[in-house]
Amino acid sequence: MIGWEGVHLHILARHLQDEDGSVKGVLAVLHDASYLDERINGRLARSAFSVLMVTLLVLTGVMTLTWTVYERPLHRLAEWMRRLRLEEAKDAPPPGLPIADLGTESDRLAASFRAARTKGRTEAHNVARTEKAWTRERLRAHALDCLAGAQLVAVSNREPYIHQFHNGERRAIVPASGLVTALDPVLQACGGLWVAHGAGDADRETTDRQGRLTVPPGDSRYTLRRVWLSREEQLGYYYGFSNEGLWPLCHLTHERPVFRASDWQEYIKANHRFADAVLQEIGSTSAFVLVQDYHLALVPQILKSSRPDLKVGLFWHIPWPNPEAFRICPWRAEILRGMLGADLVGFHLQQHCNNFLDTVDRMVQARLDWDHFALDLKKHTTHVRPFPISVQDWSERRVPSGDKLARQMGELRERHDLEGMQVIVGVDRIDYTKGLIERFRAVELFLTKYPQHRERVVFVQLGAPSRSHIRRYRELITELESLADEINWKFQTEDWKPIRFLVAHHDSQAVYAFLRMASVCLVSSLHDGMNLVAKEFVAAQEDGDGVLVLSEFAGAARELADAILINPYSTEEFADAIHRAMEMDLSERRVRMGGMRKIVTERNIYRWAADFLVKLSEVSDRTGKGDTSYETVAGKR
Ligand code: F6P
Repeated sequence: MIGWEGVHLHILARHLQDEDGSVKGVLAVLHDASYLDERINGRLARSAFSVLMVTLLVLTGVMTLTWTVYERPLHRLAEWMRRLRLEEAKDAPPPGLPIADLGTESDRLAASFRAARTKGRTEAHNVARTEKAWTRERLRAHALDCLAGAQLVAVSNREPYIHQFHNGERRAIVPASGLVTALDPVLQACGGLWVAHGAGDADRETTDRQGRLTVPPGDSRYTLRRVWLSREEQLGYYYGFSNEGLWPLCHLTHERPVFRASDWQEYIKANHRFADAVLQEIGSTSAFVLVQDYHLALVPQILKSSRPDLKVGLFWHIPWPNPEAFRICPWRAEILRGMLGADLVGFHLQQHCNNFLDTVDRMVQARLDWDHFALDLKKHTTHVRPFPISVQDWSERRVPSGDKLARQMGELRERHDLEGMQVIVGVDRIDYTKGLIERFRAVELFLTKYPQHRERVVFVQLGAPSRSHIRRYRELITELESLADEINWKFQTEDWKPIRFLVAHHDSQAVYAFLRMASVCLVSSLHDGMNLVAKEFVAAQEDGDGVLVLSEFAGAARELADAILINPYSTEEFADAIHRAMEMDLSERRVRMGGMRKIVTERNIYRWAADFLVKLSEVSDRTGKGDTSYETVAGKR
């Protein structure tokens, strides 16, 4: 083939020969092949065009799909969020979000947003309302108003005063319990009835035939009605289901919960026993019943099925875990339905309320109203709210002051070899949730890393034995005792030991004296609903001095942000925090403590009770009687 002036020619040439083989000429056939190029180029151009068109079509398709499936819903979501921020969005998040989780999360976001805003408004309103501090007298007047002639009844497992034999003598002790610390001042202020388990060996001897007595001993302010439980009931209901099942289930401390069917049966029986005692005591009168804690989850429902007119509130003193953690409980739906008998369920933190609503959402056929933090089950509405619990002022308790206090502190210093020492204190029930092992280890590292504090500082740990029929609790005491021993052995000198581990029931006078004496208080819960020791320490620092080292996993950390917050699982961080607390200068100590004292004084236990009672009367008025024909295990005995 040759190219000639842009034309492609095919040439076929042959010699023409005669018979003897001599060449006579040449035969040449010329063929113009240009049309082939044109065709090839034409085809190439058409193919390129088709590819381009298909690509464009595919791109348009993909873009339209992306817009419809992703971008448009996300734009709508953004617009809805903007309106939510400006308080214009009253509707639910836009439907059809591309990722199911995004829909759920935006639902929750809206709910939390509204809850936070409502809380902000309530707080602003409360600030206006609470220029006057909440006192015992103010709560009494307020409660009379709310109750409008109804009785106030509290029901809990733990009783506020336990009578025990001690060297043949009867004595009344106040148990180491956050619940009692918080609720006793409320009952003392308002009067009323407290129904609780009579756990002391001298309890029966101090009551009338119905199990009643007036308390506090020697200063009758309200009635305590004791409920008697058999040994089997205590083992199954209290030690078993409540404290080997629900306690580790709700506290995320890597302690495996144990669920036994026999414990569950005892739990049901015991819950009926407490509810029956309440019903018996109130007769046909109207009442506000404040059910307390995880031991009595079924009581609200049992009460409501007999007396739908009662105003029933449940306060959960421990954390509420996320649904994934809670769902391992074999009787999860029964527990939830029992709780939903209440008109109002209270937790310490908004986060626990969110977890609770999430849990109900996944495990019970109830209608959820995230906007109002309410749940409808069989025409009965339960409202869910945070009520961070608190303490009363120490001046209202029978604790010494002035010279008497100085004498008591002097005696304690002498008895425990603390003269001339700076004291770091811890006050706890001996429980694996309190992070005591972590605390002892942090003290050890603090003395290792910062040897300048040796022979100048003593760590005093007051430990009240607790739930000692459970092996894990007994073992913890032994473990802590040997750890304290090991650390003391490692650092002790002739005149100094770094740790005093005082295992005993300590009365409030002793606790107060140690809190006053201490420069630093350690609260290292691995997980805790609130932790009232943190607030008690702050409330005790009348001179405005002292440093609180507080676990970020205790509910109290949300309010007491001026504490040195720590992750108790990090021994390094914890030890450094102790060092920082010991080295902090006076002006910083005062600023921090001042901020925390303001919070604890303003948000005291009287304000907590007032808020709870107001909310309970509001929501139960709105709730009505509902359908109380519940069909769950709470009916079985
Ligand atoms: O604060 C949680 C709580 O379980 C209270 O309900 C209880 O009173 C306290 O800890 C002490 O526990 P217990 O009553 O088992 O001694």
